[in-house]
Amino acid sequence: MRSSAHVADLQGTWVGKILSPAVLVVSIIISWVANSAVSIRFGDRISNSDEGFRTSVFGLGSFWRSEAAFGCLDGVVRTCAGYAGGSRPPNPEYRSLGDHAECQIEYDPRIISFRQLLDVFWSSHDSRQVFGQGPDVGNQYRSIIFTNGTEESRFATLSKEREQTRSRNSVVTTQIQPLGTFYPAEPEHQKFELKRNPFLLQLIGNLAEEELERSSLATKLNGYAAELCPGRMQKQIDAKINDIIRKGWPILKEI
Ligand SMILES: *[C@@H]1O[C@H](CO)[C@@H](O)[C@H](O)[C@H]1NC(C)=O
Repeated sequence: MRSSAHVADLQGTWVGKILSPAVLVVSIIISWVANSAVSIRFGDRISNSDEGFRTSVFGLGSFWRSEAAFGCLDGVVRTCAGYAGGSRPPNPEYRSLGDHAECQIEYDPRIISFRQLLDVFWSSHDSRQVFGQGPDVGNQYRSIIFTNGTEESRFATLSKEREQTRSRNSVVTTQIQPLGTFYPAEPEHQKFELKRNPFLLQLIGNLAEEELERSSLATKLNGYAAELCPGRMQKQIDAKINDIIRKGWPILKEI
């Protein structure tokens, strides 16, 4: 389904069948746009140069959801689901991951800071739940911040203390550890929320897996598909998609 060679096969079959109800606006509009559905490519605005970007790694429950929670933020360039801080490297796999599952965030520190990422970290999960998150129970769902250097370590510790003062009756379980090796997870775990939404996948041109994992646009839409973008951004993307649909998609009518 990811290959553009299959785009034609998808016409008329994908609409309504597998579309997640998560993105309401899209679902409504899609019914009358179905016949003109073609694949469109947008250029990623982020340059290929990774100069000056930084990476941070957090664990806050399911890494599918974590990717989506961070992916839509201004300044976040890419996200990757994977594993860090485990006691059993190298190359853990989901089936045998035992004690780790994290999300790596690549960001432009001129636009978003480590401290702002920490704010999102705290607001995106319940740090008081011991080794789990909601229905997901297990050490791999633990709350953890990986730090690179003393400054990040200090910010992380301070933010945890602040979080603890907010919850007097329960202990903030979040661990803070120096960042070691990060192992990307298997392809089926990457951009999981976006992959559940064939309409959005098609909208960005049914990118090959490798491209999808590198794409900043896919990173944002992964957050959008999970409805985890900040409100302003969620609206902005809605508006963009509406706009494309209103103008009519570029359709080849004759040769
Ligand atoms: C820590 O940050 C420095 C500077 O950005 C970077 O070169 C290094 O690779 C980072 N370390 C890890 C383990 O990511």
